[in-house]
Amino acid sequence: MTGQILEPSTPAIRVRGLRNSFGEQVVHENLDLDVERGEIIGVVGGSGTGKSVLMRAILGLRPPQAGEIEVLGVDALSDRARESGLIERNTGVLYQNGALFSSLSVAENVSVPLKEHYSELPEDMIHDLAMLKIRMSGLGEDAGAKLPSQLSGGMRKRAALARALALDPALLFLDEPTAGLDPIGAAAFDELIKTLQRALGLTVFLITHDLDTLYAICDRVAVLADKRVLVNAPLAEVEKFDHPWVQEYFHGPRGRAAQAALAKEA
Ligand SMILES: Nc1ncnc2c1ncn2[C@@H]1O[C@H](COP(=O)(O)OP(=O)(O)OP(=O)(O)O)[C@@H](O)[C@H]1O
Ligand SMILES: [Mg+2]
Repeated sequence: MTGQILEPSTPAIRVRGLRNSFGEQVVHENLDLDVERGEIIGVVGGSGTGKSVLMRAILGLRPPQAGEIEVLGVDALSDRARESGLIERNTGVLYQNGALFSSLSVAENVSVPLKEHYSELPEDMIHDLAMLKIRMSGLGEDAGAKLPSQLSGGMRKRAALARALALDPALLFLDEPTAGLDPIGAAAFDELIKTLQRALGLTVFLITHDLDTLYAICDRVAVLADKRVLVNAPLAEVEKFDHPWVQEYFHGPRGRAAQAALAKEA
């Protein structure tokens, strides 16, 4: 489904000089970010540093005050990108608050983007595609007919993932996907993301607070602090970065526990 205008040789995401503000409050100033194709990038930063705002800007949901954003080689701020829905068709999103439609079944939820972008597809084919994505997300067939309120928190995350995968996106955005899951459920979800990334060649923009997730599946980590991306590098490098938040985060008690867990596995 990937359109030919999307240039495979370009980075998956390229942001330059981004500025986002709400009234007097400046959230991002002169922010740069590069995300390579096929990688899982973990995006971390204190609460309120603007991780979700950054994601929404990249998705074109809120135009920034300044800066350039390219997604899959396309200028995300151009009229062409907005009018064609090109980026929307090639990205899947799992929002921080889940946001499944509560009155629709899981299968109907997953069908929504398919109906929106491929209205010419017959109903039964849309249903089959939705069920495929539901199975890919690790849910049983029976989950398709259930309402979100009839699922556990972990299953709801998987249902939201199935919807994010509906259009076979090249690029997947996940905002705190394991928040609220127990450690075992979170680890299983991480594994699922890694498996899907490998199998489908996805690029994954993963916002997380979860240190275990960073150590388990991320190729690189981008740290948001001081209104910009402070460092964007493999974990081993980021851990050494000389900044108070980074040091506290990676070398505080929870950081040490996550590193110890990784060492035990290896
Ligand atoms: N629509 C909005 N209107 C006004 N301010 C906003 C809006 N959206 C976000 N903000 C502000 O922008 C800042 C960054 O918010 P954002 O949601 O990106 O934080 P975050 O890094 O995702 O935090 P968390 O880890 O808690 O999810 C916050 O101070 C927030 O209050
Ligand atoms: Mg957020």
